Amino acid sequence: MSVPAPTPADRFSFGLWTVGWRAADPFGDPTRPALDVVEAVERLAGLGAWGLTFHDDDLFGFGADAGTRDKQIARLREACDATGMTVPMITTNLFSHPVFKDGGFTSNDRSVRRFALRKVLHNVELAAELGARTFVLWGGREGSEYDSAKDVRAALDRYREAMDLLCSYVLERGHDIRFAIEPKPNEPRGDILLPTVGHALAFVEKLAHPELVGVNPEVGHEQMAGLNMAHGVAQALWAGKLFHIDLNGQRGIKYDQDLVFGHGDLLNAFALVDLLETAGYDGPRHFDYKPSRTEDLDGVWASAEANMRTYLLLRERAAAFRADPEVVAALAEARVAELSEPTLAPGETAAELLADRSAWTDFDPEPAGARGYGFVRLHQLALEHLTGAR
Ligand code: GCO
Ligand code: MN
Ligand code: MN
Repeated sequence: MSVPAPTPADRFSFGLWTVGWRAADPFGDPTRPALDVVEAVERLAGLGAWGLTFHDDDLFGFGADAGTRDKQIARLREACDATGMTVPMITTNLFSHPVFKDGGFTSNDRSVRRFALRKVLHNVELAAELGARTFVLWGGREGSEYDSAKDVRAALDRYREAMDLLCSYVLERGHDIRFAIEPKPNEPRGDILLPTVGHALAFVEKLAHPELVGVNPEVGHEQMAGLNMAHGVAQALWAGKLFHIDLNGQRGIKYDQDLVFGHGDLLNAFALVDLLETAGYDGPRHFDYKPSRTEDLDGVWASAEANMRTYLLLRERAAAFRADPEVVAALAEARVAELSEPTLAPGETAAELLADRSAWTDFDPEPAGARGYGFVRLHQLALEHLTGAR
């Protein structure tokens, strides 16, 4: 099967911290040299990517002076102008420096919270300058290890206070920017606030400007919680809140692996691509992975390419699955489309339902209970398309 080459129309983007990861882990030193932002932009553009995203500290370092900051921003801009790459999303590092060891927006220390907000506001201006329309907030240090040490209800008040300030700021400034909260259940904190897509969606509804805030689900983070990423994304789409997505791979409930997209639960990745492509999601396909520590720089670029190839392969396989007449028949047998039919007739009331004999007195639950749905056969057809057997 031939895989199409990635093009900017595919809207593939990468974090500078992904290909730029030097592969230091809690047990070992870096295995790769630092990567310059200009090289990252050029190499990714050469592979057919469309965008580069970054944390403030990835580009110019924590506490950089104005000269260093401006120089790095100018270098990024020039590289983007020369290659046609874009900066669709920016995010802020509120987790590396020791000042954030108890969180940014929800640190018990008020002065740290004020500093964190200033750091993010500064970066929102940079997002506006670079034309980034999405601003991601991953609260990796917002959480605790010890239940007695964190007043979670107060922490959520402070989280909301921060989000409300950011929203009123972009409105005042007239910036065309929306925020996307990235859930994660744990790591680096023992328990992180807003641990899943569902928690984040519920939180957004409590904000002063819910229309400006959505979610950035990451494959591995939902799977670390034992959850179904495709279901989480479907609920985010249903709520109109899928503002961004972090694609990667994860094998079960363990530390955050950040593998290449599809290098974990491949069947769920297939379902996810099928969903994104059929639900009309038109945002970035952003890869947030870590090239494994075993790889040298050639391996970094091979792994970057692998993310895009996997996505395109799955897109092609999902389209073939949908087009297969046997699949169409199996979907009908499984009554998948019937779920889109409202349960009640137009305008039907509870009294009318109670009066409808066919729904109760004349309804025989025995044959309905005995009838098979054929879900396993349908899933096997998906697997056969995925493996190229069909
Ligand atoms: C992780 C997270 C981070 C965030 C990124 C954006 O792997 O724990 O995905 O990589 O996405 O830092 O702030
Ligand atoms: Mn991750
Ligand atoms: Mn992420």
